[in-house]
Parts: sequence; C-alpha cells; structure tokens
Amino acid sequence: MKRGFSLKGLSLTLVIVFLIWFSSFDSCNARRGKHWRQNRAASSSLSKKKAKNNGGHGSKSHGGSKSPSPAPAPPKKGHTDSDSTVFNVIDFGAKGDGATDDTKAFQAAWAAACKVEASTMMVPSKFKFFVGPISFSGPYCQQNIVFQLDGTIIAPSNTKAWGSGLYQWLEFTKLRGITIQGSGIIEGQGSGWWSHAESEDPAKGWKDWDLGDPARVELSSNMPSIKPTALRFYGSLDVTVKGITIQNSPQCHLKFDNCQAVEVFNVTISSPGDSLNTDGIHLQNSRDVSIHNSNLACGDDCVSIQTGCANVYIHNVNCGPGHGISIGGLGKDNTKACVSNITVRDVMMHNTMNGVRIKTWQGGSGSVQGIQFSNIQVSEVQVPIIIDQFYCDRSTCKNQSSAVALSGISYERIKGTYTVKPVHLACSDNLPCTDVTLTNIDLTPMQERYHLYEPFCWQSFGELRTPTVPPINCLQMGKPLSNRIQSSLDSC
Ligand SMILES: *[C@@H]1O[C@H](CO)[C@@H](O)[C@H](O)[C@H]1NC(C)=O
Ligand SMILES: *[C@@H]1O[C@H](CO)[C@@H](O)[C@H](O)[C@H]1NC(C)=O
Ligand SMILES: *[C@@H]1O[C@H](CO)[C@@H](O)[C@H](O)[C@H]1NC(C)=O
Repeated sequence: MKRGFSLKGLSLTLVIVFLIWFSSFDSCNARRGKHWRQNRAASSSLSKKKAKNNGGHGSKSHGGSKSPSPAPAPPKKGHTDSDSTVFNVIDFGAKGDGATDDTKAFQAAWAAACKVEASTMMVPSKFKFFVGPISFSGPYCQQNIVFQLDGTIIAPSNTKAWGSGLYQWLEFTKLRGITIQGSGIIEGQGSGWWSHAESEDPAKGWKDWDLGDPARVELSSNMPSIKPTALRFYGSLDVTVKGITIQNSPQCHLKFDNCQAVEVFNVTISSPGDSLNTDGIHLQNSRDVSIHNSNLACGDDCVSIQTGCANVYIHNVNCGPGHGISIGGLGKDNTKACVSNITVRDVMMHNTMNGVRIKTWQGGSGSVQGIQFSNIQVSEVQVPIIIDQFYCDRSTCKNQSSAVALSGISYERIKGTYTVKPVHLACSDNLPCTDVTLTNIDLTPMQERYHLYEPFCWQSFGELRTPTVPPINCLQMGKPLSNRIQSSLDSC
C-alpha cells in the first residue's frame, strides 16, 4: 500500500490544482482533512505538516479523563478538530511495509504526541511496521497519552539490532496515564532466541516437571544472551493495556515494573508451549493491578508475580499452554521479598505445567501473605496446586534455615484433571506455612498416565474446610508448635 495509490487515473495536474484550491481555504480544515483521507489507503487523517502545525493545540475531545476515548471514529464531515491530537506514524514517514526500518518515524510521532495531553499516537491497521528497540519515555511527556495500535509492529529478527543484548524491545517509562489499545499485534519474532540445549537431569525425580533454568539455556544462534521483553512498562502510573495481541516474544511478553494502577484486559498473548522463558505477563514492584478477560498462551508462566507486588486481581483468564500462574521465585540469593493481597479467580488452565504456584528459594526473607486462588478449572495440568519453598534451578542448592514466610494462602474450588500430582505443599522447616486453607478441591487424574503421585505436604499448617478429592491427609491442622517469630528483617 502506497500513499496516494488511488490517485491512479487522475492526472497529476488535476491533483495539483485540487491541492492549491484546497490550501487556499485555510479556515476549512475539515474539508481539507476529508480530501486527504479520501486519497489515502491508511486511516490517517492528517498530513505531516498539519500534524506538526496543530501539535501544540490542547485537546478538546480527550480532556484528560482517565479512561481514554475509544479509537478515533471514522471520518465525519466537518469535524476534524480533535485530529489535532492524533499523531499517525504514517505522517511521520513510516512506511509500514514490513521491511523498511520505521523506528525513526515512531520516535518522531512519539516526540510530537508526548507534548500534547491526551493525545493519540496512531499505528494504523493494515500496515506492518518494522521497528527496532525503542523507548517511549517520560517523565516530561503530558498525561493520558493513547497509543492506538491497530496495525502490526514487528521486531527485528537479526542479531545486529540488539547490540550486545537489551532487556526490552518496546519500552514505556515514567508516564502518567498511558494506554495501549486497539486490535493490533506486537510480533516479537522470537523463535531465534528460543532454541536451547536439552538439559534435563533425570535425578531430579518429582521435580521433572519444573524446568526452565535460564542459566542452562544455550542459544544456538548467535543472538545475544540477554533476551528482550517485548513490551515493558516501567515507573508509570495509570497504565492500561487493552485489546492488543502480543506474540512470539524473545522472552517475557508484557512486563510491569514499578508501576501503580495497572489494568490489562482483552489482551491475547500467544507463543508456542515450548518457547523457552516466554512469560506471558510479569509483575514486579507493582501495586493495584487488574488483569482480566485475557487469553495467555506461552512457554513459561502465564502470569508471574514477583517481589514488591500487592493488590493484584487476576480474573477471567485462560492460561495454556504455559507453566500456570506463579508467585515467585522469591528470595533468591538471600534477598527479601514482599508480596501481599493477590487474588486469582475464574481461571481456566489447559495443558499447563503447574496450576497455581508459589515458589521461594531457601535463604530468603520477607513474606507472602493474603493469597487467594479461587475457581480455577484445570485440565491436564501436571501439578495444579504447588508451594515449593525449596525452589532450586540446579540439581542441588545449599540448605539454609531462613525463608520467605508464607501465610494466609487459600485455595478454593480448584477442580479438574492432573497428570502428575494433585497437591504439593513443601514449606520451610524453620518457618512453616501457616493458614493454608483448602476448600472444595476436586482433582482427578488423567486415566492414561500410570505414574501418579499422592498429595504431598511438608510443614504445612491450616485447615481443610471441606472434604477434598483426593483426600489430603497431610495438611496439619492449626498452628505449628514452634511458630518462630520472624525477625524485624523479615517484616515487610
Ligand atoms: C473485549 O473484546 C470483546 C471481544 O473481542 C469485545 O466484544 C468487547 O467489546 C471488548 N471489550 C472492551 C471493553 O474493549
Ligand atoms: C486487596 O486488593 C484488592 C484488589 O484486588 C483491593 O480492592 C483491596 O482494597 C486490597 N485490600 C487491601 C487491604 O489493601
Ligand atoms: C538438605 O536437607 C534435606 C532434608 O533435611 C536433606 O535431605 C538434604 O540432603 C540436605 N541437602 C544438603 C545439600 O545438605
């Protein structure tokens, strides 16, 4: 698609006459806008010149409200005033042919959008934009910018673009009120990063299901060893991601770090089940996060919740393939971890490695508390319920007495089929898990597998609120006798 292809058949002279005629009506932006639109394949409504000229005008239609307006309406006669806040990458020179490097055009469009409150940076449909690593960053941008993604953005698959390695491809940092929305696709072209040496240790026994050690990954191609996240938000407030698809990321698909007030919905994440280390959504040091009505299919955790997260609500999510929904690993290298008030409910998991999991390393400190897993429907999940406080990515890890303290973990209505073990609760010897409650657990084995394990518990205390299928006799009722007082170092 080329600009102006529809001019075919009109004589150039006629066009020039038209342009001169229209440009003499400076007060009539509406008609000029209409004219331009009719001669574009793209939904673009602004010429580059106009975008720049009007870029400084304040917004009329978006007005700084928290929730952004929907996608700009189709062209209407006589009303294009609000277009002064729309910055279309095509107007900044993007080709959208899937081959030309459009990074500079994206940078230019962002630079313009950044200056206008509640502006829209438009990535139009039907185009494929080849874009290298890029940062859309504040803190000097105006608030409530909408990144309207209806087209496709493709990552470079060649080594050179990544230098010696980068942590992210598309980065949004230090913004207040940032929305990415639309029906578009973020295509990470990650397959070159996924290949890995087979490295399983048969001696790991029941830990067979838990693979995923980045340290053992050998990149077969000459890609740099640091694998980028496809889309990362850092240090931002009021972040919304809705409607878009993120697929085939080299590593994590969507990451929030140091963010507050995050809403993710109607999002599709899609990568093959064997794409190594491709988390769906990764949360770290982020609070007040809601993730809902989304489909997450990837090669690692569908959602991974790391230290510093609180008030996270995940519901109506499909997960699989993938490793399930995980809190942790926390406390690696004797670090302190704090996670609280996490709710995961109304989730369907199909063919995942784990269901809902909490994993911590020996030697950590801090706490995980106030965790609810409710109405999780599993099918063909290896281990639906896991707490592993002995998480170790090598064949052995040093035994250490300190641990991240786990308390107030409830599992309610976890139902469906498993393929290895229904429940595995392995808690720290020195700091047992407390207040673990199990209600309406109904897990049945897939019949065709014969090597199944019984429910396992170690140092796990709490309550069975209802009978369970299978019976879980290993949970110890009440509180541990020697409930150690955590040191002040451990309090979060
Ligand atoms: C979410 O997606 C569904 C189906 O694609 C659509 O009908 C619905 O309007 C979307 N919701 C929002 C709030 O965008
Ligand atoms: C816990 O998180 C939910 C969001 O999932 C929030 O509505 C609630 O206020 C939080 N509770 C506390 C005590 O902060
Ligand atoms: C750690 O402790 C466990 C259980 O007490 C024991 O079986 C294991 O051998 C110990 N591992 C090491 C590396 O000391």
